[in-house]
Amino acid sequence: MKKLAIILAAGRGRRMGLETPKQYLMLLGKPMFMHSLLAFDVSSVDEIALVVAKGEEEYVENVLRQYKIQTPVRIVAGGAERYISVYHALDSFRTDSIEIVSIHDSARPAIRPVTIEKSIQDAMAYQASVVAVQSKDTVKMADGRGFVKFTPDREEVYIIQTPQSFHFLTLLLAYDRLMDDAKVQKGVTDDAMVVERMLGMKPKITLGEYSNIKVTTSEDIALMERFMIE
Ligand code: CTP
Ligand code: MG
Repeated sequence: MKKLAIILAAGRGRRMGLETPKQYLMLLGKPMFMHSLLAFDVSSVDEIALVVAKGEEEYVENVLRQYKIQTPVRIVAGGAERYISVYHALDSFRTDSIEIVSIHDSARPAIRPVTIEKSIQDAMAYQASVVAVQSKDTVKMADGRGFVKFTPDREEVYIIQTPQSFHFLTLLLAYDRLMDDAKVQKGVTDDAMVVERMLGMKPKITLGEYSNIKVTTSEDIALMERFMIE
């Protein structure tokens, strides 16, 4: 059973407001994306697709040479939106007989190999897995004018993270359909949505860890360093 990891590192990090894209910022002595790469390197995946923006391949290859990564890494050029970056990686492995694919945001450097493994197991059992944690906060849905529309039952609210793992051909079919459907593309923020919308699937919720936060704005950096030392 051949397993692929797709690690996404082709974003611009606009909400961080720095020149350097956030995945290249130094975090505990390593560029942020390396933390995810090392976690997947010790997981059961057989190959890694590292998706980076055009022009950043050489920098990334230089960084990779400084570490002993056992798993083969293929560098793939990203696109203007996250879903396009994912599609480029899936397309690049179309004929490689991959059975399971696990997709991860390099902006979540605190991912632990045990969570990766749980997600892969759930993808094997249920076709699609999203790593998530239960919401500690009450969530309210709002109308467009800033008034509460309704309050979902907190027990049923999950905060969605990555990795998200899938049967490869199932996800590829969903993405092939997405790429032909400009209307659905708008508002796609994760991969599970693609199989939900294009195939009507119900991904399994795989319980993860609260520490697996996404570094989005500058205050997340300090928080992350504390999480990762503990
Ligand atoms: N990503 C990507 N290709 C894109 C956009 C995002 O590979 N065109 C990746 C990012 O590198 C990140 C992950 O998807 O690891 C999640 O995206 P997000 O947190 O939104 O990162 P950015 O898009 O870089 O940040 P921002 O939205 O603030 O610009
Ligand atoms: Mg973004």
